[in-house]
Amino acid sequence: MKTYRPGLRTEILLSLTLLLAVAMTLTSFVILRITERNLLRYKTDDGMAVVRKIQAAVENTTKHAGRVSLGLLKERLGEGISWMSNSGLYAEIVVVGTDGSAWVGKERPTWRNEYAESQIAGVIRTGKPGTKMNSERTLLTITAPIFDDEQCIAAAIVPVRIDAVTQGLSRSRRLIWFYTGLNMLVLVVFGNYLLSRIVVRPIKRLVRMSDDFEGTDPFFMMAKIDRNEITHLTAALNRMLKRLANNKERLEADIRSLETANLELKQAREEVIRSEKLFSLGRLAAGVAHEVGNPIGAILGYTNLLADHVADNAEARDYLRRVEKEVTRIDTIIRDLLDFSRPSPSESAPVDVNALVMENTAFLARQSLVASVKIETQLEEDAGMVWADANQLEQVLINLMLNACDAMDEGGSLTIAARRISPDPEGAGSDKEFIEVSVSDTGRGIAVTEINKIFDPFYTTKPPGKGTGLGLAISLRIIEAFGGRIRVESAEGKGSTFTVELPVWKQNHDTK
Ligand SMILES: Nc1ncnc2c1ncn2[C@@H]1O[C@H](COP(=O)(O)OP(=O)(O)OP(=O)(O)O)[C@@H](O)[C@H]1O
Ligand SMILES: [Mg+2]
Repeated sequence: MKTYRPGLRTEILLSLTLLLAVAMTLTSFVILRITERNLLRYKTDDGMAVVRKIQAAVENTTKHAGRVSLGLLKERLGEGISWMSNSGLYAEIVVVGTDGSAWVGKERPTWRNEYAESQIAGVIRTGKPGTKMNSERTLLTITAPIFDDEQCIAAAIVPVRIDAVTQGLSRSRRLIWFYTGLNMLVLVVFGNYLLSRIVVRPIKRLVRMSDDFEGTDPFFMMAKIDRNEITHLTAALNRMLKRLANNKERLEADIRSLETANLELKQAREEVIRSEKLFSLGRLAAGVAHEVGNPIGAILGYTNLLADHVADNAEARDYLRRVEKEVTRIDTIIRDLLDFSRPSPSESAPVDVNALVMENTAFLARQSLVASVKIETQLEEDAGMVWADANQLEQVLINLMLNACDAMDEGGSLTIAARRISPDPEGAGSDKEFIEVSVSDTGRGIAVTEINKIFDPFYTTKPPGKGTGLGLAISLRIIEAFGGRIRVESAEGKGSTFTVELPVWKQNHDTK
């Protein structure tokens, strides 16, 4: 179950309102008590003044009469007291003798109850005045002894009216409650506004910005310039974001360099595997070529000799011609193998790439075998020269073009393009310029699973006798020897593009 958690603003406001209510209640309670005490003291003083007047009247009477004449005393007191009682400030004032009989005033006034009785007796006995308030808080009764010659002869009971005081106080109390309520209302309304402005809105803004932060762009929170805790918080958050951004950048850089290292490692591994393969194959090929080459030379020599002997036998001549053809094929394979294992020393010189392409495409176009193929060239003017052996480069080009034509049994188009690319597309810090020659066909393409194998020696999909599978292996070896490389892109059923990249040769340039 979800429990309700008040927001920051509600919590602060509630606490403040509560504090204010407590403080105001306490203060008003103390003030009311003090006021009440003071007012009661004034009223007591009023009562005591009446008592003093009675005492003075007693003393006057005894001074003139010499001894207390109760009748005269009662008469004199009666005059003064009835006047005071009529002022409205007092209730029925009574003077009670030591025997309990009323000298002046009613014998049984409204306030005279049992408690008053015992109080009167106490005052007469002790000779000390006392005060008492009734339960309705309308009368404050002062009971004081009256002396004659230091002897208590009576008690004066002066009930001072305090209903006006009580009413005034309760009015004040109501007023205080009203103002406390009003204060709380004002605090809630203004406090709400101020808290929103100073605390809640800036915090909400921070929360919104933090939520929006996706970690992609450098991001900083805006803070107002007033130097309060929220500004400090914003600054701290900004510092944290900056650190996060830095860490992220470092992490990304690390990941990038790891990826590059991984890729290089993979390439290096493939390179090593290929070189090992080529090395062992080269040794085998060299051995076989050597062992088989001599007997083949001898067979060819003998077929030539034999040809003279069967000049008039057509059938035998035909057989001999066939033998010669097959042996020549073996010889070609042996020679290819030798080429592959021991590439013939190259005679490098500057080669004009455009001229080389033109020459070879013209040669290919003349071949009837490729009549169904449309040959096209796209040569960038002045593509440039490369430093290579023209014959070997030609061998590469012809192999690529023948492979393309072989892949287009039912016709298609072959495009040979040459252009200069600069700088090094790998961007590996080199400013070397390259010439790119691409051979594209619209043939059957190469399956994804096979594409990694096509540069392997003896990998061929052609029927026996049509291809040895050495063409691409030799081409790769030649191009790498000239500091270039071969790339292939292919889509099965749509065609392939073989791209050769070779460094540009410039006059007065170090020929490496
Ligand atoms: N343009 C191309 N389109 C489709 N497949 C190709 C293409 N070029 C090469 N291949 C595939 O690569 C294989 C190897 O080619 P590679 O030139 O090394 O040998 P080959 O052409 O089979 O024989 P050869 O030694 O006579 O050149 C081919 O048999 C063919 O399957
Ligand atoms: Mg080939």
